[in-house]
Amino acid sequence: MRVVRSIADLRAILRPLRAEGKRVGFVPTMGFLHEGHGALIRQSAARCDVTVVSIFVNPTQFGPSEDLANYPRDLERDQNLCLETGATVLFLPEVAEIYPTGFQTHVEPGRLAQTLCGRYRPGHFRGVATVVAKLFSIVQPDLAFFGQKDFQQTVVIRRMARDLNLPVDVVVVPTVREADGLALSSRNAYLDEEARRRAATLSQGLLAAQAAFDAGERQSSKLVKAARALMTGADSIQYLELVDAQTMEPFKGPVDRTVALCVAAYVGSTRLIDNVLLVPSPNLAGQNSSQSA
Ligand code: PAJ
Repeated sequence: MRVVRSIADLRAILRPLRAEGKRVGFVPTMGFLHEGHGALIRQSAARCDVTVVSIFVNPTQFGPSEDLANYPRDLERDQNLCLETGATVLFLPEVAEIYPTGFQTHVEPGRLAQTLCGRYRPGHFRGVATVVAKLFSIVQPDLAFFGQKDFQQTVVIRRMARDLNLPVDVVVVPTVREADGLALSSRNAYLDEEARRRAATLSQGLLAAQAAFDAGERQSSKLVKAARALMTGADSIQYLELVDAQTMEPFKGPVDRTVALCVAAYVGSTRLIDNVLLVPSPNLAGQNSSQSA
């Protein structure tokens, strides 16, 4: 595995590989890697000849009162996980490499980025879209891998790739969970044992709603209620909402299309997010299931 810090070095490595016709996969991350990231890297390694992983804690996607300065880091462990899971190039740019003095051009996502997390983290998806567009332009991957854990992020990035005609296929990988259901997240490192136990009630609520849905429940309000009833470990729930999985707009009434049940909640001072997709079977739902990249 090659480790590079500059855009010029990365391009010098990738140019001849691309010229040989190698397929380039890309996994952007902010580091403090876990098996969720590992799943993305493994998929890329399985489907591509070259897998580039970036670790860059992107300052533009953090709000002024968020955890940028304290974001957890462990480069040695990250390097080992990249190696074990099949990364071929690890890209570790400094902030000045990505945002040199004078930087002033951003990617502004539209409505998809205004609901859910967009409502509570103004500017967050602008920062994500900007850095991902830059990383796509630096790496020029054939395929890029993102986790369903950050569902709204996948929808915003897919839309951006389409809207800006970026020649990349965005692949979404299912959420990797602990045995008790808790979605793996770098931010779980902030939780002590007791908070960690309470955090698991978020996914338990989502999975209960999913089970009710699978058993035939279609009423939005009942599905949300079933989830909320189990989320007793959260200190506060920022949002728990059912949204149309294509538009990210709030969804009410009987579920007749693919919807996402999304939660953001605080356990202590740690903000956690999670979601499940509820997909009506085609013979029940009829239209509206197309989700191409
Ligand atoms: P980060 O939070 O490090 O996540 C990197 C990728 O790993 C994202 O696509 C995320 O959805 C995925 N991921 C995280 N936890 C996961 C889990 N439990 N199961 C499956 N996938 C998981 O998301 C970001 O970084 C940044 O916003 C980034 C896209 C790198 C832009 O800065």
